[in-house]
Amino acid sequence: MAPMAVVAVILVPRPSLSLHPSQGVSLGDNVTLRCHLSQLAAWVWLYREGGWSYNKGKKKEQDTAEFSLVSTLREHAGRYRCQYRLSESAEVSEKSDPVELVLTDHRYPPSGISLHPEQHVETGTNVTICCWNKDYGATFLLHKDGCSAPIQCQESSGVGTATFTLFGVTPADSGAYRCSYRPWRYTFISSPLGDSVMLEVTPTPTPPGAPPKKPEAMEFQVSDRVRENQIPV
Ligand SMILES: *[C@@H]1O[C@H](CO)[C@@H](O)[C@H](O)[C@H]1NC(C)=O
Repeated sequence: MAPMAVVAVILVPRPSLSLHPSQGVSLGDNVTLRCHLSQLAAWVWLYREGGWSYNKGKKKEQDTAEFSLVSTLREHAGRYRCQYRLSESAEVSEKSDPVELVLTDHRYPPSGISLHPEQHVETGTNVTICCWNKDYGATFLLHKDGCSAPIQCQESSGVGTATFTLFGVTPADSGAYRCSYRPWRYTFISSPLGDSVMLEVTPTPTPPGAPPKKPEAMEFQVSDRVRENQIPV
């Protein structure tokens, strides 16, 4: 066997970026972007994607660098990444995965919502949820209370409405649903969350003698549907 070539590579682990608070930030709130390095860095940059080439240096002999945005403005909303340079070797890391800072603008009226066919349905029913706004043209997001991320996302049909369908609901789909929207051209600006509609799904009674349903099967069905409707990045 041929001897393996010895390559001197200085590994600079990729940093990760986190947002605090991670969601529900309104225009005018303060927010902190924290870049987690796995080594001591001499310099850390924070980039905002698109629009202006926004970046910022930070001289810190630390393994975390904090960038605080005080009293956020519309132009702070966007997709951020961070990067650092090592103190000793001057090697530069790759950029972190992006985090999205979405700012809620309370000047947008909340989205209306309605649910069909009704609040109480049986397992297996197709339920549709309509979201609408006046004339902001928009991408609508459907939220379920207790879930941190929106569960579905859809472009408006052009008349300020979006219709979400929950196919073959199960008791796991029971809960409170709300809509929000992102106005055209403002990908990272959100309306406030609107009023909620409640959905209550009654379990199908088990026929006598039939084995009980496996809960795993139900969970798979739900998560599969959520995955199909993931928000495009
Ligand atoms: C639910 O929607 C699917 C797809 O449109 C359809 O095939 C199915 O028959 C519907 N189920 C019910 C109970 O209406």
